[in-house]
Amino acid sequence: MRQAGRYLPEYRALRARAKSFLEFCFEPDLAVEATLQPVRRFGFDAAILFSDILVLPHALGQSVRFAEGHGPLLEPVRSMEEFRRLSASGLKERLAPVFETLRRLVQVLPSQTTLIGFAGAPWTIASYMIQGAGGSDFVIARRMIHEEPDFFARLMDLLIESTIDYLAAQVRAGAEVLQIFDSWAGVLAEQERRQWSLLPLSRIVAGLKALHPQVPIILFPKGAGLLYRDFAVSSGAAALGLDTGSALDWAASELQPYLALQGNLDPVLLLSGGPAMAREVSRILDKLGRAPFIFNLGHGILPETPIAHVAELVKLVRGHSA
Ligand code: CP3
Repeated sequence: MRQAGRYLPEYRALRARAKSFLEFCFEPDLAVEATLQPVRRFGFDAAILFSDILVLPHALGQSVRFAEGHGPLLEPVRSMEEFRRLSASGLKERLAPVFETLRRLVQVLPSQTTLIGFAGAPWTIASYMIQGAGGSDFVIARRMIHEEPDFFARLMDLLIESTIDYLAAQVRAGAEVLQIFDSWAGVLAEQERRQWSLLPLSRIVAGLKALHPQVPIILFPKGAGLLYRDFAVSSGAAALGLDTGSALDWAASELQPYLALQGNLDPVLLLSGGPAMAREVSRILDKLGRAPFIFNLGHGILPETPIAHVAELVKLVRGHSA
């Protein structure tokens, strides 16, 4: 959950060497170093590739940039005509620096540190592609589902197919585990959530399993609510990332019998630290730590997080006895 990032002074120094955030992602020297920084500092069990989910629309030909203080800005794609300007033909070439970063990471990571590759889920990527910016409700993107269903379905098909290709290529370059972020699954209503989050992710898992059956896939359908159960039972994933709002007793009884769980400390508790964080870490590990479980945050780390709190968290998790 963004273990690399602005909360680390060494990340801010590295970031200052790249002209733009995308160039940072596409410069293997820098991306390797950004991946290693948190692992070096905290000794995490896994390293997640340093990149971003929005390199995919960039590779499909959409203009993507990250404006300082504004998050991502994209030239919106909202019609069949704009859709037709996208193409998957340059995908592997445009994403070559990402694969190079993975190959180098395999060489330099300690052998016990798992290397995680990742991508955004089709709905989350589509919502940025259509909306053109970040937000909290993605109303324009959600309207397209109903008002331009052919366009929307074509866009989702392109994203499903190119995500399978992209993640399979990450495995060939050395990724040992894959994680797919559906950060905006929670803004969809029940039927749309099934159709445009659960089904596309299930198709991607099936496509990847056909190519690389040994590679575990972690899905993070943030805000999926009770639909987490369908993800557990029928998506084919090896693990599910729980968001901060997930109920632990329910997750232990309804989800964990089917697959491993990951999560779900509130990033705000990591900001606060102290006894409140310690209590919640114990509660999470008591409820979920008796079956396959990966301790993680329930969403991305906040840039103002004190480094000492992260170190304390690692100590608490490593020191916890079931
Ligand atoms: O350490 C890691 O976790 C690996 C790298 C990683 C980044 N983004 C780097 C990044 C990963 C896994 C992501 C995923 C990502 N990117 C998601 C899904 C996970 C989630 O948080 O829900 C989403 C929705 C994005 C899109 C995105 N990228 C946004 C909305 C922003 C702006 C937010 C911000 O904090 O400014 C980014 C930029 C981004 N991606 C940063 C990092 C470290 C911050 C850029 C900076 O250095 O200023």
